[in-house]
Amino acid sequence: MRAVDNLSLSVEPGQFLVLLGPSGCGKSTVLRMIAGLEDITEGELLLDGAYANDIPPHERDMAMVFQSFALYPNMTSRENIGFPLRVQDPHADRNPRVETTARMLGIEDLLERYPRQLSGGERQRVAMGRAISRRPSAFLMDEPLSNLDAKLRSYLRAEIAQLTAELGVTTIYVTHDQAEAMSLGHRVAVMRGGVLQQVSTPRELYALPENVFVAAFIGTPRINLLQAVLHAPLGHRMSIDLGRQRLPLPEPLNPDHQLLRIQQGRQIIVGLRSEAVRIAPPSQARPGEIALTGIVQHMEYQGHESLVHLDTGSTPAVVADLESPRPQSPGRGRANTGPGILTRIKDRALAQIAAPVAVLDPPQPPRERSVSAGDFVVRSWPDLRLRTGAQVPLLMDLAHLYVFDHLGRRICPAPADLPGLEV
Ligand SMILES: Nc1ncnc2c1ncn2[C@@H]1O[C@H](COP(=O)(O)OP(=O)(O)OP(=O)(O)O)[C@@H](O)[C@H]1O
Ligand SMILES: [Mg+2]
Repeated sequence: MRAVDNLSLSVEPGQFLVLLGPSGCGKSTVLRMIAGLEDITEGELLLDGAYANDIPPHERDMAMVFQSFALYPNMTSRENIGFPLRVQDPHADRNPRVETTARMLGIEDLLERYPRQLSGGERQRVAMGRAISRRPSAFLMDEPLSNLDAKLRSYLRAEIAQLTAELGVTTIYVTHDQAEAMSLGHRVAVMRGGVLQQVSTPRELYALPENVFVAAFIGTPRINLLQAVLHAPLGHRMSIDLGRQRLPLPEPLNPDHQLLRIQQGRQIIVGLRSEAVRIAPPSQARPGEIALTGIVQHMEYQGHESLVHLDTGSTPAVVADLESPRPQSPGRGRANTGPGILTRIKDRALAQIAAPVAVLDPPQPPRERSVSAGDFVVRSWPDLRLRTGAQVPLLMDLAHLYVFDHLGRRICPAPADLPGLEV
């Protein structure tokens, strides 16, 4: 099995690049290859333009920060932060550099403490201090915040952004948390099953995901993805068949919608982010908005908003790798109980061949009496109260329509390079 396959990626000096993807997709392996801790079986690693596959890790001038803090337990924070400086030059006075570093991180008062006397967040800052004290040419960070609670994580996230910008040091940061990736990265590289899916700015990833996996991985609540069939009879209005309901495309067609004609009669995947849909009656439709209905399955109160889970009578598209849970540690419980094992095997198999991203027509379990998770999520104001089973009118803004082909590749908005269209 290949942990990473055919990856091509470049990072500009001073840039903050995030490697993002689900568990086991090869993020840490990539980072370890860059650090020199993992052999590269095929291909080249260039550092400052020079071939670097054979350079031993300690000569690469990179500092790594791991998820597990890995401080020396018998050293104080001062000694931990100063340690890389001691290795560099055993006789130099390390204190000024250690103190500047501690000031940057707001841990001046903790310098005489041992790791066991520090909280998780404080330890992580000391670990960060140890990484930056000798001003490396690059930082490699592997999920450095994932052991911390949500509040501290978002606080330290802002600090990392500020610190790396201040130091201007090239940073490669690994995470499986899309919100972290979006808020930190100048560029984000999304990986799946060892294969790079897309590398773009956070904005472009969100607005123009190249495939259904990237679309589904980026953004909360997750984009609504529905299986559909496209109808484009000559001389008639084009429409998208969603199962129980149909989306007529507004006339005149915009160029992106016109290009969908070639999918006539084919299975496609429709993507609608929650901001493309609102709860409102057809009478309030603006130009380009199409009416649909949904049946309320359940409401999720979030404080500043509520998420309404609806059943629109469509079949959600299953995205390989995304649906599979993080692997459990062996020996705990019986792994083959309950649903999902077949899906996981299928996902694994799909990850190996790494071609299609979507799985259409999964075997449908018989619908339980009334409660289903719904196939569609819409945002609403927090005070909205809706009864389970109530029918609500929806307006969809088709300017924000995404369409993916049966393999999960985006076809609307049309990709910049239109493969196969010259024929
Ligand atoms: N030393 C190893 N020997 C064999 N296989 C390995 C080794 N290290 C990792 N793998 C496998 O390579 C794949 C990628 O692993 P990697 O640790 O890079 O994933 P990751 O994206 O960092 O995941 P996570 O988010 O869980 O840390 C996984 O399938 C993993 O089981
Ligand atoms: Mg990892």
